[in-house]
Amino acid sequence: MRKWKVVVSDYIENDLDWEVEQFAKMDNVAFEHYQLKQAPKADLIAKIKDADIIVVNMATFDAEVIGALEKGVLLIRHGIGYDNVDVAACTANKIRFAYQPDYCGTEVAETAVALIMACVRKLFASLEVLKDASANQIWNFAPMGEVHRMFGQTLGLIGAGRIGGRVYRMLRNFGMKIMVCDPYLDERQKGALGIGEVYDLPTVLKEADIISLHTPLNSETRHLIDEPQLRMMKKSAILINTSRGGVVNTEALAKALREGWIAGAGIDVYEKEPPPPDMPLFSAPHVTLSAHIGWMSVEAGWDIRYKIMDDIQACVAGNPPKNTVNKEIDGVLGGKVYREL
Ligand SMILES: NC(=O)c1ccc[n+]([C@@H]2O[C@H](COP(=O)([O-])OP(=O)(O)OC[C@H]3O[C@@H](n4cnc5c(N)ncnc54)[C@H](O)[C@@H]3O)[C@@H](O)[C@H]2O)c1
Repeated sequence: MRKWKVVVSDYIENDLDWEVEQFAKMDNVAFEHYQLKQAPKADLIAKIKDADIIVVNMATFDAEVIGALEKGVLLIRHGIGYDNVDVAACTANKIRFAYQPDYCGTEVAETAVALIMACVRKLFASLEVLKDASANQIWNFAPMGEVHRMFGQTLGLIGAGRIGGRVYRMLRNFGMKIMVCDPYLDERQKGALGIGEVYDLPTVLKEADIISLHTPLNSETRHLIDEPQLRMMKKSAILINTSRGGVVNTEALAKALREGWIAGAGIDVYEKEPPPPDMPLFSAPHVTLSAHIGWMSVEAGWDIRYKIMDDIQACVAGNPPKNTVNKEIDGVLGGKVYREL
């Protein structure tokens, strides 16, 4: 009987006791798990190089790490975004690369909506007003500045895939006009959401009151929002980012907030994670920051564990995972599901 070695390079769960228990019931699987998120590359390679199936959360799987896999047939990303994995290197090394696109879309959309509301309603800024009123026993709302109702405002969605599409559904009942910018929008998704016109980025940046980012991070979208784009936005506009930190130039955003080119921002994701203490948004005004919690919920946490276990069990049985990223691998492998060992 073929013995499979499954290795987790790094994980976000408190423990992997459930996985240990499941694999213990399978006598053809040996399971190891590590926390090598920021480990030196040599240490990462040493622990994964003889694995058949690897599960990665945040560790960097560049061409060198992927090239070091001696037996690897399947790499699984624990999550939706996969900018920490060199997809072309997986294909070049005949490794199937899978991801989990369907476990926390609702949670991320809820986080985007929460950030939009926190910014529009100035929820956190109002704490200072409350403390001041309590100390002086008189309300003074002047420091709140202008607050506007969301009803009637224009929401610009940059990316209307799984998560952007959910935000669209959630907010269309708020009486907002919604403008979508997504040059690659799937026709079925367009029809399902009832989106008529799709706009280009400058038009949405110029016209929207709230811009919410929902694109993947890739070479095209890195710093999609930089100085020129921030300068195109209305002075009263707010920017929400729950996608990937690298989609926005952090320095440019901090400058835009300090100099009043835009009115506010709600940010869940950072160019470097966790962000360093001198990350400029910590000292910028009018910004609501959360700790990359878009994905987080008890329900999503279990969903992704079950889905990854399903993919591993499918592989051990010779079947494909639910969602392959490098679909061209089918051609590279000549129709086989996994490369011969
Ligand atoms: N904050 C979190 O915790 C968290 C959790 C999961 C996912 N995410 C991130 O959310 C983002 C969206 O995920 P998703 O599942 O909706 O992805 P998706 O692939 O379903 O949708 C992405 C959409 O962006 C569009 N797009 C691509 N390039 C574009 C461009 N240049 N301009 C405009 N649109 C463009 C695509 O056509 C697609 O419709 C990803 O960056 C992902 O990493 C964040």
